[in-house]
Amino acid sequence: MASYSWLSHHAALMLLLINWREGMHCIELSVDPPGDLAVLDPGHLGYLEITWSPPASLINRAECPKLYQLEYFNTYENSWTVIRTVRRTYTAQFDLMKDVRVRVYTLLSGPCTNGTLVKSTSYIELVQKSPSTGLVGTAVKDFVCVFHNMEYVTCNWGGGPKMPANSQQTLYFWHKELGQTQECPKYTISNGVRSGCNFTGTFFPDFTDINFCVNGSSPEGPLKPTYISLQIQNQVMPATTQKLHLQTGPNAQLEVHWERPAGRVPGNCLEWEVKHNQERPDGKTSTQQITKKTILTLPSVHDKQRNCFRVRSRLHKYCVQRSFWSNWSHEICHPATTTRPLKSD
Ligand SMILES: *[C@@H]1O[C@H](CO)[C@@H](O)[C@H](O)[C@H]1NC(C)=O
Ligand SMILES: *[C@@H]1O[C@H](CO)[C@@H](O)[C@H](O)[C@H]1NC(C)=O
Ligand SMILES: *[C@@H]1O[C@H](CO)[C@@H](O)[C@H](O)[C@H]1NC(C)=O
Ligand SMILES: *[C@@H]1O[C@H](CO)[C@@H](O)[C@H](O)[C@H]1NC(C)=O
Repeated sequence: MASYSWLSHHAALMLLLINWREGMHCIELSVDPPGDLAVLDPGHLGYLEITWSPPASLINRAECPKLYQLEYFNTYENSWTVIRTVRRTYTAQFDLMKDVRVRVYTLLSGPCTNGTLVKSTSYIELVQKSPSTGLVGTAVKDFVCVFHNMEYVTCNWGGGPKMPANSQQTLYFWHKELGQTQECPKYTISNGVRSGCNFTGTFFPDFTDINFCVNGSSPEGPLKPTYISLQIQNQVMPATTQKLHLQTGPNAQLEVHWERPAGRVPGNCLEWEVKHNQERPDGKTSTQQITKKTILTLPSVHDKQRNCFRVRSRLHKYCVQRSFWSNWSHEICHPATTTRPLKSD
């Protein structure tokens, strides 16, 4: 009885040991990083394709589901972006004026690792230096695009400090709905040189990266290219408000209201800045306030005051990341004209 018990204990211990060793074997399976990391430029002005291959040591291990952790330095946000994917390719937006830095790890799961996720201790890395082509000091500056009242887009830029005479600038753009880059349809010329592009009639999808490149040539060599990536809904400048109305109410109230510009700009997204100038016999004051309403009421207005208003608008940050202020409207005043100098009796 005693010996049987000892035997069974011994057998159980052996089994446990074997199981444990098998378990160890699985967990100890070293995970190698992927191979053949490459970054391909299909000519989409910074939208680059990253590819890699599975680690050679795992190619024939079909029972081990592989996942990859891709990390790339996002120069727009100045931080690493981390993505997990089962695919062996990923496309991301890069600023071609900066270095491209990419790392990929292998992650294993499933029966191979007893259900836990095991990450390779090392990664494969690729650092691609920005191609420093073009003459120093010839990159354009202050590139800005405006989506005028959500009707048409214009982009403008200033010349670099060392722009050679007879330089010819060119602007190219690309977004996901275009097969290949396109050139500016109509350049804006100022002082004989190209300073912008008028995209009237060109459709830009919103909530999509639009990539621009301003490059060019000169008798002394190629100009240094500038790359910009933006989303068109963040470039809106509402039209200038044209219709403002003033009316007096009971108890000497003064009410100013205005109409939002016609067009596609969503009215519920607009916020307004109202500039109120008040002239009184004892002096002038000027106040500004921001409101979501299109009406402002002054409780009581005295005869000897003159109140003037102008408004401007932009899209609220609840709707878009940013927006340009519209131009100030014309001024509307009550009384409309000063027939005689305001002075106290
Ligand atoms: C596998 O994982 C399960 C759950 O965590 C655990 O109970 C079991 O002992 C593990 N097996 C091995 C062989 O490590
Ligand atoms: C852009 O072009 C359109 C049509 O050609 C014209 O109506 C508009 O005024 C131009 N805008 C600018 C800012 O040049
Ligand atoms: C400017 O960029 C476009 C688009 O990448 C390219 O096709 C063109 O050759 C470039 N021009 C110059 C002068 O470098
Ligand atoms: C806004 O005002 C500027 C300066 O007066 C003018 O050049 C521009 O055309 C105006 N823009 C609009 C959209 O009215």
